[in-house]
Amino acid sequence: MGFKKDFIWGAATASYQVEGAAYKDGKGLNIWDVYCKQPGNVFEDQNGDVACNQYELYKEDVQLMKELNIKAYRFSINWARIIPEGTTAFGGTVNEAGIDYYNRLIDELIANGIEPFITLYHWDLPYELQVKGGWLNDQIVDWFAEYATLIAKRFGDRVKNYFTVNEPEVFLGLGYREGTHAPGLKLGDREFMRCVHNMLKAHGAAVRALRANCPQPVKIGMAPTGAFCYPETESPEDIAAAKEAMFAMDKNPTGAIWNFALVCDPVMLGHYPDSAIENFKDVMPEITEEDMKLISEPVDFFGFNLYNGVMTKMGKDGKPERVKRYDGFPKTAIQWPVTPEAIRWATRFLYERYGKPIYITENGMSCHDWVALDGKVHDPNRIDFYHRYLIELKKSAEEGTDIEGYFAWSLMDNFEWTNGYHDRFGIIYVDYPTQKRIVKDSGYWYRDMIAENGENL
Ligand code: GAL
Repeated sequence: MGFKKDFIWGAATASYQVEGAAYKDGKGLNIWDVYCKQPGNVFEDQNGDVACNQYELYKEDVQLMKELNIKAYRFSINWARIIPEGTTAFGGTVNEAGIDYYNRLIDELIANGIEPFITLYHWDLPYELQVKGGWLNDQIVDWFAEYATLIAKRFGDRVKNYFTVNEPEVFLGLGYREGTHAPGLKLGDREFMRCVHNMLKAHGAAVRALRANCPQPVKIGMAPTGAFCYPETESPEDIAAAKEAMFAMDKNPTGAIWNFALVCDPVMLGHYPDSAIENFKDVMPEITEEDMKLISEPVDFFGFNLYNGVMTKMGKDGKPERVKRYDGFPKTAIQWPVTPEAIRWATRFLYERYGKPIYITENGMSCHDWVALDGKVHDPNRIDFYHRYLIELKKSAEEGTDIEGYFAWSLMDNFEWTNGYHDRFGIIYVDYPTQKRIVKDSGYWYRDMIAENGENL
């Protein structure tokens, strides 16, 4: 017992965070290229222009993955690199140089025995599409389908696994509602819920486009995130409380977007939760039966990104209650709590709700890493973090949750959005001035754990 024999042990990155080459070979601008250039948006006004320069150093990175026993690489396509204006609908073209880059990367991965997992959208919307309204424009459903079709036609002969969108909660919640991520909008309720519905339709359209245009059967899912709750004890009451709290719908879209039920029930169950319909009936766009059919186009697995959760218990009044964290509760460098139990209960709750095999599409932590006097990067906290979370994930697998794979976030240190290069999440250290990579102790730990398929946890 433990992890499945053919368990997918992977590592993840995202295009804007690692590629660099922001102005090379005909790539178009995306919303992060533009957002980072507005002073004050990002820590020390940093940007992803160069990042880890994976665009040029991909071969070295693939060799490192191989050295670390990594079986799958989850990376995203930079939409504006392959369709600089986002769509050909208004006279835009396909950028063959961009396609060539991903072909080289995919071929290099496969030649080294590493399975490519493509994320279609990890937040870098082509700027030209943002000018036209981005996710608020209903036409984004067609734009995204065109983009997915191109990916299917050009890469689908070799790539068998896809995630449509990464964390819509973040790119809509922070990007379009709270205004703290690109493109920095603060939309009202009605406009915001329209974006949510458009995003869901775009997801469904991409699922259809991938299935119709990939020359082989492929597996498709999403990579959402959300607020996770886990029980204080294993009493049936606390478990029920945690589950209830996790799917309880906030009345305000700003909070509701973080609820798995709002984003994932439509996709996985074919309908918005009743509580969302009730709370947002006055601000929802018109929803047709056709829309719901499109949104719930069958997927193959349920992927999600998990970093932490909230301990919950059943209160005396029979309502779920958040358990206050004790003083000095363990925290990562980015100040996120360390809550390994969250991964056990989240996989269980989401498997019970949606019934599809689970992928952890991201999990990991930021540390205060630097190169030690001995030239190595020692990150015992990160090793302990992975160790603890993977013990809990294994428990969940042993309790009957169907778990197919796990991707560490991240393969390497990279551009951490508005935190710039301040936070390091990699199992490989990147010395940005020289672009030198150094495998951290946690990278070697991950390698050895993979070699044993987690039996040594
Ligand atoms: C996720 C995101 C990643 C990465 C990670 C660590 O929300 O998908 O791109 O930044 O968090 O913060």
